[in-house]
Amino acid sequence: MPTTDEGSATIFPSSRAAGRITVPGDKSISHRFAIVAALATGTSTIRGYSTGFDCRSTLACLRALGVEIDWTPKCVTIVGRGLAGLSPSSVPLDAGNSGTTLRLLSGILAAHGFKTVLGGDESLNRRPMRRVIAPLSAMGARIDSNIGRPPLVIQGGGLRGITHLPEVPSAQVKSCVLLAGLHASGTTTVEEPTPTRDHTERALEAFGGRVTRGTNSVTVDGGQSLEARDVTVPGDISSAMFWCALAAGTPGGEVTVDGVGLNPTRTAVLDLLDRAGADVTVSVDGAIGAEPTGRIVVRASGWQDVVVAPDDVPGLIDEIPALAALAAMMPAGRRFEVRGARELRVKESDRISALATGFRAMGSEVDEFDDGFRLTARPLRGAEVFSYGDHRVAMAFAIAATRASAVVTIHGAAAAAVSYPTIFETLAQLTEPEGA
Ligand code: S3P
Repeated sequence: MPTTDEGSATIFPSSRAAGRITVPGDKSISHRFAIVAALATGTSTIRGYSTGFDCRSTLACLRALGVEIDWTPKCVTIVGRGLAGLSPSSVPLDAGNSGTTLRLLSGILAAHGFKTVLGGDESLNRRPMRRVIAPLSAMGARIDSNIGRPPLVIQGGGLRGITHLPEVPSAQVKSCVLLAGLHASGTTTVEEPTPTRDHTERALEAFGGRVTRGTNSVTVDGGQSLEARDVTVPGDISSAMFWCALAAGTPGGEVTVDGVGLNPTRTAVLDLLDRAGADVTVSVDGAIGAEPTGRIVVRASGWQDVVVAPDDVPGLIDEIPALAALAAMMPAGRRFEVRGARELRVKESDRISALATGFRAMGSEVDEFDDGFRLTARPLRGAEVFSYGDHRVAMAFAIAATRASAVVTIHGAAAAAVSYPTIFETLAQLTEPEGA
């Protein structure tokens, strides 16, 4: 059984990966339902809200802005304040480790005629924010920052609609601008030559908003009102992907994940798993909370080299750590290459460097590029590795560690709680550790 101590986890080798599970609610969708519910008129309930720390940060910030929120194990209840109805916070807002919280809330705070200070933990305060500062300033907000990084000091109000082409494909930037656009005069359009996850668009529509989707753009009219709803968050496909990697990378492995979100802007990774040689079966059961949902079954069936091309990256950026884990578990000589993924360097950690360092320590051969890496599988061995405070890096090491010849200690494994507080319990359920 994996053991955790003072934030570290010790993972024992295992030759089994089998079982049927569900995963916590989708992080991206949870943030959006909470934020959109806060802007709506009336009381909304959200079932299946993510238990991860990031989504708690969103609720804490909304509370500080005067939103009444009740969180029970059954659901989150949010009393909406209506568009532009938030109150000034008496304290600086703390988005913790959550880029989504900070960037989406910036869009809303840019529309409120008061000053807000918005920052986060050490990792978040290092992340680039010019990508939201520039469009929000063009719309009329005044934003000071620490040389383009948090904390942001936002003086909002009097926004006008714009047409914006983000400098990198980003659902957070798109969502920030669309949420600001709801509060702006005229219309706001975000151009999107490479599509990104569309949870904001779906959430707005679910709460009675109007969103016009073009081939490569999304437009909202300012001043429309949103209405409270009862919604359910499906399981997080990005979390499910760690179990898919575990099953696909363990000879004889088979894992079923039920109730998982299957939004087409998030499922590109399933195609990658198939190309990597896994046997993948997906069934859509229906749609909950405006999002398609269903079951994923993954069986180990073979292992192939895989290349992720630059155009594929925005559709599976969060799943690259899980795919790297699968690659590291493959028979020696198999290769996994990602290019066009420079964005990985400005996530919760520099994921290219963090993954390369940890997988090398475990025995993989890793060539690092500015915009990606190539991992060549080699027999995995016991090692001490570091999460660099990054939840997905910690989880990737935990999955691959089950195939190592000896124990792997992951320092900073507690970071996994940012999106998946119960990952180590589920790992114990699906594996049969040897020597524990
Ligand atoms: C997210 C968008 C992506 C993703 C992040 C969550 C979202 O970030 O990596 O984990 O919820 O909108 P970018 O918008 O920076 O690509």
